[in-house]
Amino acid sequence: MNKLSHSHYYSIAMWLSLVKVLMQMKAPFSASSSLLRGKGRLSPYLFTLIAFILFVAILYGQDFMCIFDEQLQNYSYSDKLSSTTQKVKQQKVPFAVGKVEEGCDVFSGSWIRDELTRPLYEESECPYIQPQLTCQEHGRPDKDYQHWRWQPHRCDIPKFNASLVLETLRGKRMMFVGDSLNRGQYVSFVCLLHRLISEDEKSMETFDSLTVFTAKEYNATIEFYWAPFLLESNSDNAVIHRISDRIVRKGSINKHGRNWKGVDILVFNTYLWWMTGLKMKVLLGSFDDEVKEIVELSTEDAYRMAMKSMLRWVRLNMDPKKTRVFFTSMSPSHGKSIDWGDEQGGNCYNQTTLIDDPTYWGSDCRRSIMEVIGEVFSKSKVPITFLNITQLSNYRRDAHTSIYKKQWSPLTAEQLANPISYADCVHWCLPGLQDTWNELLFAKLFYP
Ligand SMILES: *[C@@H]1O[C@H](CO)[C@@H](O)[C@H](O)[C@H]1NC(C)=O
Ligand SMILES: *[C@@H]1O[C@H](CO)[C@@H](O)[C@H](O)[C@H]1NC(C)=O
Ligand SMILES: *[C@@H]1O[C@H](CO)[C@@H](O)[C@H](O)[C@H]1NC(C)=O
Ligand SMILES: *[C@@H]1O[C@H](CO)[C@@H](O)[C@H](O)[C@H]1NC(C)=O
Ligand SMILES: *[C@@H]1O[C@H](CO)[C@@H](O)[C@H](O)[C@H]1NC(C)=O
Repeated sequence: MNKLSHSHYYSIAMWLSLVKVLMQMKAPFSASSSLLRGKGRLSPYLFTLIAFILFVAILYGQDFMCIFDEQLQNYSYSDKLSSTTQKVKQQKVPFAVGKVEEGCDVFSGSWIRDELTRPLYEESECPYIQPQLTCQEHGRPDKDYQHWRWQPHRCDIPKFNASLVLETLRGKRMMFVGDSLNRGQYVSFVCLLHRLISEDEKSMETFDSLTVFTAKEYNATIEFYWAPFLLESNSDNAVIHRISDRIVRKGSINKHGRNWKGVDILVFNTYLWWMTGLKMKVLLGSFDDEVKEIVELSTEDAYRMAMKSMLRWVRLNMDPKKTRVFFTSMSPSHGKSIDWGDEQGGNCYNQTTLIDDPTYWGSDCRRSIMEVIGEVFSKSKVPITFLNITQLSNYRRDAHTSIYKKQWSPLTAEQLANPISYADCVHWCLPGLQDTWNELLFAKLFYP
């Protein structure tokens, strides 16, 4: 490298570091913005300042070198360049066809009773729903939970257009990555569009951790990948994963991540599996080590570690000009009726009405985990669209599968005598609440 190009390289890199530093100074975090990082705009003042610094830097490039030297060593040049250009040019968001009303937070709203347009499909008409979620088939006596529509306070959610989804996915791959709650959202998504594809043009197959729905005439796949922690863990077996002593391995996202490469639209979630108590076991070496080096972190710190790994993986593997990445927030459980002011001892069993306290939030780690997510995402420039479904789902104590599902093992007489004891207050009946999550995913994908 001759002296001139050397100094030129450093000047550009320096300029980029400065832009980066300045951007960090004014990167507000807003849950309602479609891209957590997409809305920042350079003020004229800032722009002039950067132009001036760039000018000085070109003149005195060599002298500045030492100051920035250390940062430059860790600099991923092309990576930062593309993200910076995107910021300056206010590039179009991939797949966008329109916009929801300015300043409308689609996650802030209320549930409206709707007998006419909900549910969006019938349970019996979607063959892909796993028997753990078919509540009607398993004897649920009421259907009220199917007739609710989410209405944002300040705008409407665009109508789910299955044909638009399929046309967009032509020749592409969409993948949901996470735990059984994400699997529920995945199945709901397939149920929302499978009707448009004739019987012999579609299929769903499972290969270990990966389930693939293929729409042949569109050459499109919609996939689900089981990775309940996103990182490698001792709960990764797609079938046998009911382990109480959970261990997650630090820095291991590529273990699963190599199976997500080349995907055009990714939807992540992870939460429930971290809720094992106050501490989480984190493996520092490898699962093959004879003597395993394990540290215990607080749930929040361990979760933060996973969030950072996910963002880093996205930064290194997803092209923001062509792909989209979503992250679905924590799905709430309704296992303790005292949370919503009922007598102790109850849960979601026999609940047919919504929680009507708009400030209801629930117990467990929801709040502190939400804070971790907010903190990690706000510090990052990686474009991930946040689906903040926690609050709207908090109201839905009525929407869980409860006792109306296929059981893992036969129930004892004692259990049968006390349905509350075996009600599933974690997962959701389909059709139901998770169709709304997908209407919001649809809204954020096409109308960011
Ligand atoms: C650069 O990376 C090395 C290790 O890869 C690390 O020790 C060093 O602190 C990093 N420097 C900066 C400025 O981030
Ligand atoms: C749905 O999408 C299709 C294909 O993109 C489009 O032709 C159609 O007009 C859309 N329908 C509605 C109701 O917006
Ligand atoms: C089908 O889609 C894949 C990407 O998922 C692409 O690589 C392939 O070229 C497509 N095939 C045809 C025939 O369009
Ligand atoms: C279910 O709820 C109804 C009222 O909503 C109540 O009358 C009934 O006793 C409850 N059943 C059980 C088994 O808790
Ligand atoms: C998600 O929405 C809830 C309720 O509207 C809010 O309290 C929380 O801060 C939001 N989370 C993030 C990370 O924006």
